[in-house]
Amino acid sequence: MEVVILPSSKQIGIMAADAIAALLRRKPNAVLGLATGSSPLPIYNELARRHTEEGLDFSQAHGFALDEYVGLEAGHYESYKEVIRREFTNRVNIAPENVHGPDGSAQDITAACQAYEDSMMALGGVDLQILGVGTDGHIGFNEPGSSLASRTRIKTLIEQTRRDNARFFNSIDDVPHHVVTQGLGTIMDAKHVVLVATGAQKAQAVREFVEGPVSAMCAASILQMHPHVTILVDEAAASSLKLADYYRHTFDNKPSWQGI
Ligand code: F6R
Repeated sequence: MEVVILPSSKQIGIMAADAIAALLRRKPNAVLGLATGSSPLPIYNELARRHTEEGLDFSQAHGFALDEYVGLEAGHYESYKEVIRREFTNRVNIAPENVHGPDGSAQDITAACQAYEDSMMALGGVDLQILGVGTDGHIGFNEPGSSLASRTRIKTLIEQTRRDNARFFNSIDDVPHHVVTQGLGTIMDAKHVVLVATGAQKAQAVREFVEGPVSAMCAASILQMHPHVTILVDEAAASSLKLADYYRHTFDNKPSWQGI
């Protein structure tokens, strides 16, 4: 697990976009794992800028969203399908049919979740997964207690997450209780995971999942078992890390050919 502490979310966006651009050059039909929420926005902004100004090409790429609310009507402004479209895929030249998300309105949710897993597998799995982290340590919507081997399925949101996400809705009463989310086992299948966390409100979760024990009580801690994870944090989110100086020293002395 590599921890990189950067001065601003703009620089976090640039570093993640560098990794995605390098991947697309190496593998134009790469499969990108897409998170929603506030954390990935600097990455999407930088990718959109590179597409417009530098011709970064997504024409053969695929995208798979991490999660979706259950119970929002189709086209709801805050459904993750719409958010991904608005914040990212409409701003680059990825083919709309190559952008996928779990189906939160399926009659048979279990079958839809299996079909989602199958469609990811059919493309060889996710090459680079973008993640944020919840204040309770969730990734995707794998709340505390989630099986560390879980696959895409329905989950119930914890009240803290509904409160955190109420800022996107008129009131907390409008935040759905249920979601479908890639499981921790699904996320662990991605070849490279890039997790972004910014702001003091994330400091405790970052400390727990980076330096605490691997435990279902802090879902993101399973990433300690992944062979290629990059954690991009600002100073505020890094402020509780015990080994912050070591992470800085390591990154400052990293061979230039290595990348993230
Ligand atoms: C979003 C997702 C969540 C968020 C997390 C952090 O698709 O899966 O895990 O990444 O709730 O949200 P922000 O970035 O809004 O703080």
